[in-house]
Amino acid sequence: MIQKCIFCGKEYHIDDIIYTCRCGGLLEIVYDYEEIKDKVSKESLRKREIGVWRYLEYLPVENLEKIVSLQEGGTPLYRCKNLGEELGLKELYVKNEGANPTGSFKDRGMTVGVTKAEELGIDVVGCASTGNTSASLAAYSARAGKKCIVLLPGGKVALGKLAQAMFYGAKVVQIRGNFDEALEMVRKLAEDGKLYLLNSINPFRLEGQKTIGFEICDQLNWKVPDRIIVPVGNAGNISAIWKGFKEFKETGIIEDLPKMTGIQAEGAKPIVDAFKRNSRSIVPVENPETIATAIRIGNPVNYPKALDAIYSSGGYAESVSDREITEAQKLLARKEGIFVEPASAASIAGLMKLLEMGIIDKDERIVCVTTGNGLKDPDAAIRASERPIEIECDMEILKSIIEKI
Ligand code: F0G
Repeated sequence: MIQKCIFCGKEYHIDDIIYTCRCGGLLEIVYDYEEIKDKVSKESLRKREIGVWRYLEYLPVENLEKIVSLQEGGTPLYRCKNLGEELGLKELYVKNEGANPTGSFKDRGMTVGVTKAEELGIDVVGCASTGNTSASLAAYSARAGKKCIVLLPGGKVALGKLAQAMFYGAKVVQIRGNFDEALEMVRKLAEDGKLYLLNSINPFRLEGQKTIGFEICDQLNWKVPDRIIVPVGNAGNISAIWKGFKEFKETGIIEDLPKMTGIQAEGAKPIVDAFKRNSRSIVPVENPETIATAIRIGNPVNYPKALDAIYSSGGYAESVSDREITEAQKLLARKEGIFVEPASAASIAGLMKLLEMGIIDKDERIVCVTTGNGLKDPDAAIRASERPIEIECDMEILKSIIEKI
């Protein structure tokens, strides 16, 4: 098991704390896949409890006693018949990552990332965040007894996420700037050796998140979806899920691969713009803006990995408006009983748009990944809802209301 640059191929020891290659390229963790193939089978995986650590042969952890876990993963894969019917789809699923311990998919990355910090003997961890990463890191570092500092874009983090980061005991710093600026600052602290960086530039984070791909196959009884639709911000998750599918194929667990489809918000869509230009490089968005604050990111660090996932899988990238996001968020709640935060609803909004555009075929088996729980952003939900009716304690009035629902 090594760290390897995706650009120049240079290899680094698994315990080197470097984040990026000396050439500036992103790193990824590479395993001996023949060895994994000999060790695992569909049957042997099934003998373990579902969750991130079911797939431990595929994870970069050597000392299992050091694992820092809150029982992340094992989230539901819902068959969505009502929404599917509404959209004329044969087989639609939602992988609901909001069911993780802190309410987002970030927990999958943090169980691995904080375990790595534990293995390395590091005491101080940190990240920049639009909210969920900070909530998750704050929880896992609390569990591991580590100090934690999080940098947030002031005034742009949903209430639930801010409450979590503060309550788990992290040092919360709000900057007068956006996520991209916060990340730049915290990266400098990491370069100076002041903290261990747990943003998705850290390849160990993505190793945990790739288990979303593993679990989808597992829960579909080893069938592979035709398409995975994922909201994209810093572009780590779509890259991680793609790596998961590729590794399952490489080790003989599955035979096919899905089309990776990334959705961004209209006000923060550098990857969509690159895709539409058929380019492998992005032009950063200076002042990203969207109701989906989780993906309010103008300069996604993992864009080379994400664009590679999209191009090599034959996938697609599209953007959706704030209004489309809110409508999709409501539709999912009202048709399926699944309450997700705005960024997560971008995957459903993207599905609807791509169906209309004729990019997605109605016969496809589709999995939308909903990345965060709706309770994370109560303000957005309340703003998008009808106000409750207020009445006196009067049975006649109440009866007249029930007759009209
Ligand atoms: N959905 C939610 C709910 C998120 O919180 C994020 C990212 C994404 C999607 C996008 O994932 O960055 O891997 O492309 N949130 C980060 C954070 C940036 O700080 O919580 P990505």
